[in-house]
Amino acid sequence: MSQARKIVILPGDGIGPEIIAEGRKVLDAINEQYNLGLSMETCVFGGAAYDETGTPLPESTLNACRDSAAILLGAIGGPKYDKAPRELRPERGLLGLRSELGLFANLRPALLYPELAAASSLKPELVAGLDLMIVRELTGGIYFGQPRGIEERNGERVGFNTMVYSESEIRRIGIRAFEIARQRGSRLCSVDKMNVLEVSELWREIMIDVSKDYPDVELTHMFVDNAAMQLVRAPKQFDVMVTSNLFGDVLSDAAAMLTGSIGMLPSASLNEAGQGMYEPIHGSAPDIAGKGIANPLATILSVSMMLRYTLKEAEAADAIDAAVAQVLAQGYRCQDIATGQSEEKVINTTEMGDAVIA
Ligand code: NAI
Ligand code: MG
Repeated sequence: MSQARKIVILPGDGIGPEIIAEGRKVLDAINEQYNLGLSMETCVFGGAAYDETGTPLPESTLNACRDSAAILLGAIGGPKYDKAPRELRPERGLLGLRSELGLFANLRPALLYPELAAASSLKPELVAGLDLMIVRELTGGIYFGQPRGIEERNGERVGFNTMVYSESEIRRIGIRAFEIARQRGSRLCSVDKMNVLEVSELWREIMIDVSKDYPDVELTHMFVDNAAMQLVRAPKQFDVMVTSNLFGDVLSDAAAMLTGSIGMLPSASLNEAGQGMYEPIHGSAPDIAGKGIANPLATILSVSMMLRYTLKEAEAADAIDAAVAQVLAQGYRCQDIATGQSEEKVINTTEMGDAVIA
């Protein structure tokens, strides 16, 4: 099997299998329609893998993922696993997979569909037409830096972490962000805290250096506190934002809420080779699992990102994006994005998958 065309599918837990079934349907349809030559393999992962094999990330799943072009993940976790040993929790499987594959570039788009403007936390005129992308560094910075710990100093306990980035780590996320900016609106805002942090001083210097290879992309810089303010004041000023692990964690969740629903938002995590893991940003939603009402659009849009960013099939990705926009324009809604207007047609998970394919 050619690795370049193999997709590993990890349904996971809770609503994971339900939304993945719809993502798979769309992937199969687009594979056939555009003659993409993709092959799919489903593997066990997360809580489901823990139940079946005693570990959330079995060796066979890890090997299949290593040997794939891209991974489509549903969601993992749930209250059932709260009592599992810490190192065997489903979330550990996810962290393990991210670090094993070196997925350092996290892409989080925040796109507001006009029909869903009422669901935004901001006034419609502030968010109408919102379409931004946050590129977050995912495998470095303060979440991984050494030394770290809690220890006794001068008679009291002290907690400490280290924010550290090497030139090469900054450069590779910078290159990725500039490439994405070039494919979009050619504007990139690098977010740092250069007025206080040495690590940000280096960050900014490297971003400026990388920008020399991208004269067509306009680079600006912003302090993270101001960026947080601007995201809720005038979010449409941004096209692509690039930032470190910690800042990106916070800013990307804030940006997500501007678009209203967690059931609509996809994400990508890429490594140096362009291999990627694609997943909705939401979790396993145990409160609605098994009811057939989960919104599969975040997963379907994750399939589109996979086609765009790993498989370089922009036309097929555009077709999925257009189908989702059309389904919303026709009034189809899952429960989480229904606002009670009379022209809305509230449908279930499977019907939404079918509508996108149609
Ligand atoms: P969650 O994202 O699963 O759910 C939050 C709320 O959003 C719930 O009311 C849920 O019903 C709703 N929701 C989520 N996705 C939806 C969809 N597609 N359609 C309609 N409604 C949707 O977050 P929560 O409840 O904090 O976590 C539940 C479990 O998921 C936990 O075990 C958590 O650790 C895990 N989790 C897993 C993630 C992953 O697999 N990447 C990410 C976040 C949480
Ligand atoms: Mg977060």
